[in-house]
Amino acid sequence: MLLLVLLTVITVAANARSTSVKQSSLSFFYVIPLGTNGGLDENNLSSYLLTSINNSIPNSAYISLDGGTIRHGIEIAIKQQSLPLNTDKEIFIREQIKAYLISHGHLDHITGFLINTPNDKSGKFIIGLNQTIKIIRDHYFNNQAWADFGSTGLKTYDYQILDPLSTIPAPIVNTDLDVRIFRLCHTCPFLSSAFLVSRRNQPSASILYLGDTGPDDVEKIIQVDQTTYSPRYLSQLWKEMAPLVAANQLKAIFIEVSYPNGRPDHLLFGHLTPNWLLKELNVLKSYHSMENVKIIVTHIKPENGAREKIIEQLSRGDALHFNFVFPQQGQAIWL
Ligand SMILES: *[C@@H]1O[C@H](CO)[C@@H](O)[C@H](O)[C@H]1NC(C)=O
Ligand SMILES: *[C@@H]1O[C@H](CO)[C@@H](O)[C@H](O)[C@H]1NC(C)=O
Ligand SMILES: *[C@@H]1O[C@H](CO)[C@@H](O)[C@H](O)[C@H]1NC(C)=O
Ligand SMILES: [Zn+2]
Ligand SMILES: [Zn+2]
Repeated sequence: MLLLVLLTVITVAANARSTSVKQSSLSFFYVIPLGTNGGLDENNLSSYLLTSINNSIPNSAYISLDGGTIRHGIEIAIKQQSLPLNTDKEIFIREQIKAYLISHGHLDHITGFLINTPNDKSGKFIIGLNQTIKIIRDHYFNNQAWADFGSTGLKTYDYQILDPLSTIPAPIVNTDLDVRIFRLCHTCPFLSSAFLVSRRNQPSASILYLGDTGPDDVEKIIQVDQTTYSPRYLSQLWKEMAPLVAANQLKAIFIEVSYPNGRPDHLLFGHLTPNWLLKELNVLKSYHSMENVKIIVTHIKPENGAREKIIEQLSRGDALHFNFVFPQQGQAIWL
């Protein structure tokens, strides 16, 4: 009996440490992490390519969830054979990335995209919250920081502003995917956002990608009159996700853990630790078991030993109720 328990624990712990998710005939989405870190290394910043899968073959039309690292990530993905070895990265960026969904305006989520704009093909959409689009328009595409590649300038891109209060998924042009947006708290007064991406005509499969976020119990919004309130955007999000989890529609949640446990709350800067992540995920789990939802841990700050500590802290106790995946740059994830 003890042996059995031990074996179970070892298996679960091994699952928790997995860094890639293999092909399955039941997969709906194909994800290529182009960058997985929460800062510093400019070759490895948050960016996840996503496409749908038909007949076990990933479709050629990708979207990019955030755009921290693009080109270098594609090089690694080709080396890892997550993309065909004969892929021309120039053509891939121009032709196969159909839209950029940007969670918020911070540079670690957008630099790779910005640097590659001069060679990009026109007719693509930059998708996000009103506030994020405004940051891109006013602070990057302003002919000072960078040329205006947006709709008021060179017109390489159009802006697709999503309304967080709308419950109707918006189509992502040139793909078979739809998207909804949700607000997240991250370094008040600026918001971050989460994208719920679903397959059009096949609403039984979705993934949820969260940009940077702090925990509900810590995040506060300071109003114009200097009073504060807690919007509890994550609680609202979990409430909306519960029916999808119950219906087995939600395949994965991409969510950040920037720091190991022990980091004081006043130094979180709008980020999560393993304990805070577990506290949040337990809210969702209170509605329904999460055993069929992969939790893809993003945005680990590349500080000495942080990754190892976070993996360890998410492989015991409460964490065993969740199916954690630690993505590696260039290694495909089948969902
Ligand atoms: C990117 O960052 C992850 C997480 O720190 C690390 O495991 C991986 O080795 C890095 N990729 C490369 C190619 O160095
Ligand atoms: C994949 O299959 C779905 C459902 O049959 C269809 O609606 C969609 O257009 C297909 N996508 C591609 C890119 O062929
Ligand atoms: C975006 O924000 C601007 C300025 O706050 C506002 O005028 C505009 O109506 C907003 N647009 C949408 C689609 O929410
Ligand atoms: Zn970030
Ligand atoms: Zn950020």
